[in-house]
Amino acid sequence: MSRKKTAIMISGRGSNMAALIEAAADHGFPVEIAGVISDKADAPGLVIANQRKIPARVIARADFANRRAHDSAIDAALGGFGAEIVALAGYMRLLTAGFVGKWQGRMINIHPSLLPLFRGLDAHRRALEAGVRLHGCTVHFVTPEVDSGPIIAQAAVPVLADDTEEMLAARVLKAEHQLYPLALRLVAEGSVRMEAGRTVFDLGHGSERASPLILAPDLRPAAPNLEDLARFTP
Ligand code: GRF
Repeated sequence: MSRKKTAIMISGRGSNMAALIEAAADHGFPVEIAGVISDKADAPGLVIANQRKIPARVIARADFANRRAHDSAIDAALGGFGAEIVALAGYMRLLTAGFVGKWQGRMINIHPSLLPLFRGLDAHRRALEAGVRLHGCTVHFVTPEVDSGPIIAQAAVPVLADDTEEMLAARVLKAEHQLYPLALRLVAEGSVRMEAGRTVFDLGHGSERASPLILAPDLRPAAPNLEDLARFTP
């Protein structure tokens, strides 16, 4: 099995990055984490990358004249890592359309809401304000419009009556750490791809229809592995 070289881009805490590194520590996982890029020199995630002996580079926006030059430097660093897939994990900057276009279909992101609800910042606060009873997280292909690309996988968690923003965020984060490795695995294996602006699943058994990957509210995966997912008929 060839393992797909994957670079992770962060700006902060790096807990999703850590979950991906952890998953890739298993040599049966079809991904090798080739490197980490942070736009912030003080991102706590860099300490984790360092501890796990993953090469990490800081590429700060302030060192470049404009966004295009910044993204070009990131693109060069991704090339240096030999990256075939890019996983955004709490990368807090808008990416230029040129950069996104170059990586389209090979760049994924995790967002802490059930998209298309609550795109952008403060998703948990807005979920509480909206009074939704179901919240969660989404892994999607990155397209130029923020948090709008074709959805790969989603995990749902309940919103409890006495939830604070922090409690809800923690529940979703736990789901994120389960969902992101599953979704990255699907992309790396070629079981899911982006085609004409849509997500196409190829789960074997000759099936080419789009299938959701849903985690039940208690966080037990409804489709814990690909075989089960292929059998899953909504
Ligand atoms: C996560 O909630 C992720 O969904 C969002 O930013 C947060 C990053 O957290 N895009 P961490 O840095 O992975 O801990």
